[in-house]
Amino acid sequence: MSSSCILGQGRTALVTGASRGIGALIAGEIAKEGGHVVLTGRSAADLQAVGSGLAAAGADVSFVAADLTRPGAAERLVETVERQRGGVDLLVNNAGGDPLREFHTMTIDENLRTLQLNLVAPVALSHAVLGGMLRRGRGHIVNISAMAGRVSFPYTEVYAAAKDGVIGFTRVLRSDYRPRGVSASVLILGAIRDAGQGQRMLDESGMKASAFMAPAGSVARAVVKAVKKDRAELVIMPGPGRLMRAVMDYFPGLGPAVNRAAGASTTMQKIIEQRDARAGVSG
Ligand SMILES: NC(=O)c1ccc[n+]([C@@H]2O[C@H](COP(=O)([O-])OP(=O)(O)OC[C@H]3O[C@@H](n4cnc5c(N)ncnc54)[C@H](OP(=O)(O)O)[C@@H]3O)[C@@H](O)[C@H]2O)c1
Repeated sequence: MSSSCILGQGRTALVTGASRGIGALIAGEIAKEGGHVVLTGRSAADLQAVGSGLAAAGADVSFVAADLTRPGAAERLVETVERQRGGVDLLVNNAGGDPLREFHTMTIDENLRTLQLNLVAPVALSHAVLGGMLRRGRGHIVNISAMAGRVSFPYTEVYAAAKDGVIGFTRVLRSDYRPRGVSASVLILGAIRDAGQGQRMLDESGMKASAFMAPAGSVARAVVKAVKKDRAELVIMPGPGRLMRAVMDYFPGLGPAVNRAAGASTTMQKIIEQRDARAGVSG
């Protein structure tokens, strides 16, 4: 399968979590390749704003609002896009995030919503697009994962489980369907600056971006690279990302030590305390 079948004129990409943060940049980078991009997220107003900005820069975009934690939302979203556009050639499962509160202070339903958004929704959307992709003999699914589990980033128990799950899901999906023309890639993100949740946390805590943070624009460019070069996994962090990931796996105690040394544990504790105080939660 050639990547030129997936991007460009006459092709449609569906990007989740495109109403703000990294997803808006991913949508813009894909649009530069010339095809149509469907943006999705919960907030129609934010999708409209991102879409107008991209259209002003010459992009061919539309949006469909959807809450991916609702039962049946993934299937309805894909049906709508297939009806409007005739099919999905590229699916980018980018929507995700973490309330970043202590595991035991959240209800089990709150924890399961994190799993639903970060793992169940990408699985459901992939399942929903796959039939059409196989019929047309072309397609690519890019899933956005995170280093959270590898580095034991504080207060991300369920998020880390979901993001590691996405890596396993992508590997098997790629292996099973690539021979039939549908490929899959996973991007494993370290901390990201300039846009998205990481930048918001910096803004909230008044901290400056560290040298360990990669710019959000590099994630957007990596999505296009993953499709064009049909890459299985890309690690997005400054320096030798894949090596860092392997080292973290080999020495699981290293992540917590690095978090303590880099001040992430203390900073996160402060952020959690502020958030819990605002939400009226007691530990
Ligand atoms: N930023 C980082 O440092 C970092 C690091 C590692 C991995 N990542 C991953 O990168 C991806 C993008 O993160 P980000 O930092 O750009 O996040 P963000 O700024 O918080 O944006 C999250 C996006 O997901 C959408 N979303 C949230 N809940 C949703 C729901 N229930 N249904 C549908 N859409 C929903 C949001 O739109 P609405 O609010 O309009 O629904 C928004 O467009 C995520 O998968 C995240 O886990 C980020």
